[in-house]
Amino acid sequence: MLAAAVFCLAGCGQKAEEAKDSKLVLGFSQIGTESAWRIGNTKDIEEQAVNYDIGLMLENANQKQENQIAAIRRFIAYKVDVIAFSPIVEEGWDNVLKEAKAAGIPVILVDRELYTTQQGLTTCLIGADFYKEGVMAGEYLIRKADSLGLEHVNIVEITGTQNSTPMMQRQAGFFDTVSNDPRIEILESIDGDFLKSRGAECMRYLLDTYGDSIDAVFSHNDEMTLGALPEIEKAGFMPGQDIIIISIDGGQEAIDVLKEGKINCVVECTPKLGKALMETALKLHAGEEVEPVIHPVEEVFSDEQDTSLIEPRGY
Ligand code: AHR
Repeated sequence: MLAAAVFCLAGCGQKAEEAKDSKLVLGFSQIGTESAWRIGNTKDIEEQAVNYDIGLMLENANQKQENQIAAIRRFIAYKVDVIAFSPIVEEGWDNVLKEAKAAGIPVILVDRELYTTQQGLTTCLIGADFYKEGVMAGEYLIRKADSLGLEHVNIVEITGTQNSTPMMQRQAGFFDTVSNDPRIEILESIDGDFLKSRGAECMRYLLDTYGDSIDAVFSHNDEMTLGALPEIEKAGFMPGQDIIIISIDGGQEAIDVLKEGKINCVVECTPKLGKALMETALKLHAGEEVEPVIHPVEEVFSDEQDTSLIEPRGY
């Protein structure tokens, strides 16, 4: 039963020490609910906490760094055994991490990385290789340009949240890959904040600004892609045919649209990090060594394959 493992923090007045008995208690601060990916990630962590018989204190930060910092401080006050969180952006965590270290509570980074001025404030990272995702997106674009015999490809990029790890690394991997190809020109990169509504707004602006010069869209997540597609259609273009569409995540809705031919490529970013998180938390609690970085294996789904064979995604 899922609910049994999720402790109430706000207002329930029960310390983890009293609540946990002999169970390991893990405090997890989630970024929010901005995408199907994020919702799938939360669900997976809740389910795996039950599977591993770990008490989970889960807090949703509603896309605000200050809420994540406050949640981590509550986890410290409640004396949880292990803290995990997905940092919304990379900077600004030093003080709260020093407080966790002083309290002797190990911290696991889930999904995203962060920057600290001091070594040893976190134990490990469990999350995707975002740079590689950007490389895979760029490699697909080059193959697509080859197969269509294109001499010039104008791209617009809709990025994820500024200063977040996936935004910076996906962009770096993509740019490093396509910058060696003289056919490819990046017209503009614009911040879509990983949100569907922003994806639509950004696409409207890009279409107003560049019109039919846009040959390809590289969008850092499915939500923004799904927001952008209707805008492309409203402007009189056929996504997937007139404009090459490349997305990241691989949620079910985007895969269905890939099957319809309106998205050309989706690079997988799996939200299923819960199993590795629970196993790592148990090891840390037992005083064992843990891997400094755990990257899940990820693949590319595209119009180069028989898309009817893609298995249901589960998020
Ligand atoms: O950090 C992973 C990214 O965050 C996913 O690509 C995106 O959908 C989510 O919001």
